[in-house]
Amino acid sequence: LVRQGIGMKTSKGVYNQSFSVSYDYPVHFTRDVFSPANPSLKNAVCRLNENRRHRVMVFVDAGVEEATPGLVVRINRYFRKHSDAMLLETEPELVPGGEKAKNNRDAAEKVMESIADHRLCRQSCVIAVGGGSALDIIGLAASLVHRGLRLIRIPTTVLSQDDSGVGVKNGIDAYGMKNFAGTFAPPFAVVIDFDFLKTLDHDYWVGGIAEAFKVAIIKDAGFFRYLLKNAGKLARRDEKAIEQVVRRSAIIHLDHIRTNGDPFEFGSARPLDFGHWCAHKLEILSGYEIGHGQAVAIGIALDSYYAFRRWLLTKRELDAILVAMKTVGLPIYSSLLERKSTDGMPKVIRGLKEFQEHLGGRLTITLPDGIGRKVEIHEIKPQFVLDGIRFLKTWNIT
Ligand SMILES: NC(=O)c1ccc[n+]([C@@H]2O[C@H](COP(=O)([O-])OP(=O)(O)OC[C@H]3O[C@@H](n4cnc5c(N)ncnc54)[C@H](O)[C@@H]3O)[C@@H](O)[C@H]2O)c1
Ligand SMILES: [Zn+2]
Repeated sequence: LVRQGIGMKTSKGVYNQSFSVSYDYPVHFTRDVFSPANPSLKNAVCRLNENRRHRVMVFVDAGVEEATPGLVVRINRYFRKHSDAMLLETEPELVPGGEKAKNNRDAAEKVMESIADHRLCRQSCVIAVGGGSALDIIGLAASLVHRGLRLIRIPTTVLSQDDSGVGVKNGIDAYGMKNFAGTFAPPFAVVIDFDFLKTLDHDYWVGGIAEAFKVAIIKDAGFFRYLLKNAGKLARRDEKAIEQVVRRSAIIHLDHIRTNGDPFEFGSARPLDFGHWCAHKLEILSGYEIGHGQAVAIGIALDSYYAFRRWLLTKRELDAILVAMKTVGLPIYSSLLERKSTDGMPKVIRGLKEFQEHLGGRLTITLPDGIGRKVEIHEIKPQFVLDGIRFLKTWNIT
C-alpha cells in the first residue's frame, strides 16, 4: 500500500519526491504451532486471502532441531495436512544457531543460495524458526533476495519472542562490529509458540528477560513491578510468568515501533537500546562468551547507576532494579568492565563512540527518568561510569 505523496516543483528546478509505505503484520501467540490442528501458521501464510497455493521454504535453527526430536517430521506433516493452501518446496533446511553463526556471512549466503535453487519469487514465504541469531541470518537473506521475500518468523528463545522476533530489523556482525550489515525489513507475520521455551538452555532463558527489564524500566512501571514481584518464579522457569513477560514485552516493543514515529531509526535516538552501548561492547570484549541478554543486564545496571548519579533514579529505585535482575539470575557486573585501554580508561567506554557511529548524529543515550519513563541525554561523564563499575562490583542487597 502506497499513500500518494505530494510532489512539488520548485523554482530552482528541484522536484521533491515524497511518499510513505504502510506496514502491518500479525503477531500470533500460540502453543504447539506445528500441530496439524493449529491454524496459526496457515493463517499467517494465507493472511492476504489471495486464493492461491503459497510456495513456502522453512529454515530451522540447528540448535532448535537438536533440542526438539521429531521437529522436522512434524513440520513436514503440517504442510502435508495443509497442502491445499501451502506448498512446501523442499525439506526444512538447517541453519546454524547462536551468536557465532552471525559473525560471518556464510550462513546468510547459504540461505540465499538455497532460495535461489528453489526459485522462490517475491510473493513466496520464507519461514524462519529459531533464536534471535538464526532469525537475524535468515531474515537478512530473505530481505535481500529479490529485494525482499515474505518472511514469517517463529522465534524460539525468550529474547527473540519478547524482543527481536517481533521487530523490524535483521543483521549480521562484520568487521568486528555487531549488526554491522543488516536491513530494516518488517516481517510478513510472526508466530510465537511458548512451547519452544521448554528446551531452552537456562542462560538464554534468563537472558531474554533482560530485554523485558529494558522496556519495563523506561516505559512501564506496572510491568516493572510485575517483574520485581515474580522474579523468583521467573528464576524457577514458571511457565505462566514467562508467558506474561513475553506477551507484555513483545507488545510494548510493537507499540513502540508503531507509535514512536521512527520505526526505521533515521534519528539519533534509539530508546529500545537502553543499556545497549555497554552491552554491545561487552559482547565483543568477551569474544561473544557473554550472551546478549546477560550483557544487556549489565548495561542496564550501569546506565541505571548513571541515572541515579544524575538524580533521575532514587537509590531505592536503583536497588529495586538490581535486586529484581539478580533474583531472576541476571548478572549486574563483569570483570570485563574493568579491562583498560592504553590510555588507562576502561575499554568499555569506547563502546559509546561505536554506538554513536552506528546510529549517526549526536550521541544520544536513553536513561530512565524514574521507573517507567525515559529521558535522552547527550553526554556521558566517564567519571560516573568509573564510579558505576566500582559500585556494581561490590553491590549487595542490603
Ligand atoms: N534484530 C533485532 O532487532 C535484534 C534485537 C535484539 C537481539 N538481536 C540478536 O539476537 C541474538 C541473540 O538471540 P537469542 O538470545 O535468541 O539467542 P541465539 O539465537 O543466539 O540462540 C542461543 C542458542 O540457543 C539455541 N536455541 C534457540 N532456540 C532454542 C530452543 N527453543 N531450545 C533449545 N535451544 C535453542 C540456538 O541454537 C543457540 O545455540 C543476538 O545476535 C542479538 O544481536 C537482534
Ligand atoms: Zn537487545
